[in-house]
Amino acid sequence: MSERRPVIAANWKMNKSIEEAEEFCNALLPRICDVGAQVVICPPFLALNTVVEATKGGEVEVAAQNMHFEPDGAFTGEVSAAMLLDAGALAVVLGHSERRQLFGETDEALSRKVPVALENGLLPIFCVGESEEERERDDTDRVLRRQVDAGLSRVPEARLGEVVIAYEPIWAIGTGKTATPEEAEDACGFIRSLVSARSEAAGQAIRILYGGSVKPANAADLLGREEIDGALVGGASLDPGDFAAIVMAA
Ligand code: PGA
Repeated sequence: MSERRPVIAANWKMNKSIEEAEEFCNALLPRICDVGAQVVICPPFLALNTVVEATKGGEVEVAAQNMHFEPDGAFTGEVSAAMLLDAGALAVVLGHSERRQLFGETDEALSRKVPVALENGLLPIFCVGESEEERERDDTDRVLRRQVDAGLSRVPEARLGEVVIAYEPIWAIGTGKTATPEEAEDACGFIRSLVSARSEAAGQAIRILYGGSVKPANAADLLGREEIDGALVGGASLDPGDFAAIVMAA
């Protein structure tokens, strides 16, 4: 086991009403007493404050699923770091593959978002990962290098180790097709080597999560790997029992 504190994050995506978010928290909290992991729930924007209030005083932290890099201005439909902090969020997911693929999120935008999150005191959970086609072409390392280099390019060396990176192979997201623990560990290890090339200390400190069809049945196997410092969980995070089981496996 490494000394890095695991992160187990629930990415609800576009799911749950405000009432359902509150019910989830009430069901989850009694199931996760005395956990070692940092537990993070990422609800839709509108339920952020509800989850903050429902988890107050506990160990759960709350994250948004996206953020704009500008502090304010004419950016219809966008939300700033200060607004997320105002709602009680402590972290933010950046560059999820669904944002990259469906909503035009670019490496360039992410190179601004990651440092802005850090500067504002939000923990960035920065997502990277290759498509099935890229893996089949043996392009996984090249894609990961491009995404990691871009997202971290404006992060000063002294703060690199504070970023959380989530390795999420696109072919494993929502498909029920999990990467094998070996595949996941290889990719996480490669990402760590990219960070270590800039700063050995940051490479040791940075937490690298795996995401893609993590479930109670496969969590322990994935989380037991030296290079895997936690999980970003989609589908299985919608059920408090399943998510609690994953938290307890960390
Ligand atoms: P999944 O989603 O667990 O449903 O595969 C993971 C994610 O998209 O973060």
